[in-house]
Formats: sequence, C-alpha cells, structure tokens
Amino acid sequence: MAILDKHAVLEKNVTLLAIFAFLVVTVGGIVQIAPLFWLENTIEDVEGVRPYSPLELAGRDVYIREGCYVCHSQMIRPMRDEVERYGHYSLAAESKYDHPFQWGSKRTGPDLARVGGRYSDDWHLVHLRDPQSVVPESVMPKYGFLENRLIDGEHIEELMATHRMVGVPYTDEMIENASADFAVQVDPDGDWDGLVERYPGAQVRNFDGQPGISETDALIAYLQMLGTLVDFSTFTPDASR
Ligand code: HEC
Repeated sequence: MAILDKHAVLEKNVTLLAIFAFLVVTVGGIVQIAPLFWLENTIEDVEGVRPYSPLELAGRDVYIREGCYVCHSQMIRPMRDEVERYGHYSLAAESKYDHPFQWGSKRTGPDLARVGGRYSDDWHLVHLRDPQSVVPESVMPKYGFLENRLIDGEHIEELMATHRMVGVPYTDEMIENASADFAVQVDPDGDWDGLVERYPGAQVRNFDGQPGISETDALIAYLQMLGTLVDFSTFTPDASR
C-alpha cells in the first residue's frame, strides 16, 4: 500500500524518525495533560468534601513537616487487594483541597487515606509515642515529642489565607473565626456549633487527653478525619464525566 511505502522513508531515516516520534509524543502529551489545567472539568464534585478545619489543617502541616508522606501514601488504587484492605478507592475530589497533595510514592507503612475512625485517639497517642509498643516489628519513628509542643494557632489565619490563594474556598467568615475554631475543636465543653456548621463532620474532642493544644492534638484530629468526609453508602460514581 502506498501509505505504508511512505512509512518506510521514516524507518530508514533516523533524524526524520526522531522528529516524527517527538511530534507524536508532544501531541499525545498535550492531549493527556492539557485538560488537567482546567481542573473544574476533570474533578467530579462529591458531596461531603470540604476544606480542612483550622486544627486539621495545622495537623496536616505537622504531617508534612515530619515527613510522614515519606513512608505513607494517601491514595487507594482501585485494585481488589487495596480496596479490601483500605476501603473504597480514593476519589480525585477527596484530595482537591490538598496543597500540596499527599498521595505519596512509597508505602513503608500502610496507606492512610482512610485511616480516620479506624483506631481510637488513645491508640494513635500510644502508637505515635512508641509504635513498637503496638506493632513490635514497626520501623516507624517515635513522635512523642509532639505532645510537648503546644500550639496556639497564631498564624492560622495566614495559613488559611494562603490556601485560599491557591484555590481552597475558605470564606471570609471561616478566616475571621479561624483562631476560635482552632481552639474550640479540642474543647467539647466550648461553643463549637459554628465550627461544625462551617466544617460539617468536624470531630470535637480533646484528642491527646491532655490540657492545652499540642501538635499531637492537631495531628490526631487530622488523622481521624482522613477519608471520612464522603459517605460511600450513598455515593455513586458519575461515569459520564
Ligand atoms: C520510617 C517510615 C515511617 C514514618 C516516617 C512514619 N511511619 Fe507511620 N508507619 C510506618 C510503618 C512501618 C507502619 C506499620 C507498623 C505500625 O503500625 O507501626 C506505620 C503505621 C502507621 C499508622 C497505622 C496505620 C494502620 O492502618 O495501621 C499510622 C496512623 C501512622 N503510621 C501514622 C504516621 C504519622 C502521622 C507519621 C508522621 C508523624 C508517620 N506515621 C511516620 C512507618 C512510618
């Protein structure tokens, strides 16, 4: 066939082959990557997904600072072994307010995308202090020192404003109430109605069981909400997207 004869020209000329291969890869790359720049079109909105509460956001910062992502992924792939172990595969919408995202690339420890609610706060407290006391063969480092690091949410407004700059829809009201919301999430006796209204499903309790707000409080608040926002008993994926 004539067209195949023409292809022989490419196969016999290395420079021409390189140029055409480059063109094909470029077009393929653009088709794959370009739509992702318009994320509104590619991420399905899912009910229940909301921005992090101030305390959860602070806990997330501790998670990043301590490099937990080096050993833990937050991305359940839609394969049977993962879904049976960790739960429903991760949805793009579930990490849409993550800047930067925490999908990770290594699983020295288990995936944490749905660790929320799997263990009690006490379990986390003991495990963070001394992982080997819970899982003797664990290689996870000890993080007990986080309990002694008290935080007051001094820069929480700025942190939230920064997240707003990169696209998280924090409202003025959320930012105005940031310090109060930050503090009241560890205080079940406080007035946390506004917090739960602004961040539906936010869990309010003294996560580390000790007075004051420590980095452990923030970290456990973050761990306990991971993967809990979407109600998978009612969720049906929209295949048309
Ligand atoms: C050097 C690697 C390493 C680092 C860094 C690390 N972990 Fe782990 N983590 C592990 C391993 C291994 C396990 C499994 C054994 C165990 O439970 O300790 C684990 C287990 C866990 C679990 C229990 C998960 C489950 O489903 O059973 C949680 C929660 C956890 N890690 C949180 C954290 C947090 C938070 C940090 C950062 C403050 C962190 N890890 C840092 C290695 C690591």
